[in-house]
Amino acid sequence: MEAPWWREAVVYEIYVRSFADASGDGVGDLAGVRQRLPYLAELGVDAIWLAPFYRSPMTDGGYDVADYRDVDPLFGTLADFDAMVADAHELGLRVIVDIVPNHSSAEHPWFQAALRGEGRERYLFREGGTRPPNNWQSVFGGPAWTRLPDGQWYLHLFDPSQPDFNWRNPEVHAEFLDVLRFWLDRGVDGFRIDVAMGLYKAEGLPDTPPGKQAFKAESPIWGRPEVHEVYRQWRKVLDSYPGERMAVGEVWTDSAEDLALYLRPDELHQSFNFAWLEAPWSATAFRTVIDDTMVTGTAPTWVLSNHDVVRPVTRYGEGLVNSTTGLARARAALLTMLALPGSAYLYQGEELGLPEVKDLPPEVRQDPVFARSGGKIPGRDGCRVPLPWSGIAEPYGFSPEAVDPWLPQPPEWAALTAERQSSDPGSTLAFCRQALRIRRELRASLPDRITWLDSPEDALFFTRDSLTCAVNCGTDPVRLPPHEELLISSAPVNDGILPPDTAAWLRTP
Ligand code: GLC
Repeated sequence: MEAPWWREAVVYEIYVRSFADASGDGVGDLAGVRQRLPYLAELGVDAIWLAPFYRSPMTDGGYDVADYRDVDPLFGTLADFDAMVADAHELGLRVIVDIVPNHSSAEHPWFQAALRGEGRERYLFREGGTRPPNNWQSVFGGPAWTRLPDGQWYLHLFDPSQPDFNWRNPEVHAEFLDVLRFWLDRGVDGFRIDVAMGLYKAEGLPDTPPGKQAFKAESPIWGRPEVHEVYRQWRKVLDSYPGERMAVGEVWTDSAEDLALYLRPDELHQSFNFAWLEAPWSATAFRTVIDDTMVTGTAPTWVLSNHDVVRPVTRYGEGLVNSTTGLARARAALLTMLALPGSAYLYQGEELGLPEVKDLPPEVRQDPVFARSGGKIPGRDGCRVPLPWSGIAEPYGFSPEAVDPWLPQPPEWAALTAERQSSDPGSTLAFCRQALRIRRELRASLPDRITWLDSPEDALFFTRDSLTCAVNCGTDPVRLPPHEELLISSAPVNDGILPPDTAAWLRTP
């Protein structure tokens, strides 16, 4: 039987607000996505995942949903969504949408009713005195509880404007099953499940052990066993539709074993492998993550970047003197990830080698993390700066006219536009296109296992029959293993010598 489409898919994350603005208001939208679909088809990805575009006050960039069945006017209309999906499918691109089941926006009609004292059992309200009902801290900083004027407290693991649902209430289950069907009926191919290890909290909401809010199974907050029943139900719904509809979970855990629980055959199809993204630039660290991932026997995925983390170019370059090393490593890590069995998730701008924008002025920053930490934590705006498409000045083709994008773009991005890189064979964009093309050509013939080959200590060599990948994380050049042909490399490779901070794909006999 042929493997389902998602198994080896390359999925491109679109943070809609920052991808492309067709309406000219400085904010990306669905019509903008639609216009740029040919670019993504040419890039060679298999699917797109859209971050939330639902009705939202946008306190947390749309992860605060006020209406799960409608498009926010900022991003367009349901008709724009349908047109975008139709075009994507026409181009052979699958469409994954985000679903946010842990919490809604405070502007959701259910929470508005709860504020009036109606239906509070849909959320997690507790009596309490002047102190919060327990010691839980919000992921965004500060207590996870907010008190209403009538004295009751409600739980929000994120911003106070994102009240957590009570998943012990059957009404919440029914609502989300219906929301899934709403989007499946509109033709989506899958869902990315936000904070998928949240949802259930331990009965009685006990304190967390002091000093730690780990994503461990023992945590009263995350990864409660009851959550798996939700995904069993959702899986049944997905399977009841034709066309291999899928779900990928945002599951943060401490171990590959905990992660594998979500990937049992009757639960989620995939979850993000954040261990890969969290690994430092080190052959040992990469090897450990690869081994841990492959050993669980579930559908592997790989990801280096998304709308919540510092862009890899900057991450890998942190603290280094040479400013080009971060980009070299990001390209090498990308090539390594694309050689591994399973599916890979890219984040918009990764194909352009965009760095994190670190010097955004405080007044433009919008991530609630920044304000809630009193400005101590910069937050995630730096990886959400609108994409540079063309031209030599802001808004670099992001918006049709000379409007200010919702976050300012740096002047250096004139050299990084998609247009400029398209015509440069040495660019990161050209490199990504080539890597994705070769991957497509080879993937049907490659085994879904890897075999390690002997390598110098700071390098990794692994093979999948006709494809061998070599990556050099050390400071000395290394000799490539025997091969017939150099297929692609993340930086120039000469005389069979792999320079530091470089990866290469080799055709092997
Ligand atoms: C996820 C999203 C993130 C959001 C959070 C709360 O981690 O990726 O952007 O802030 O959930 O919904």
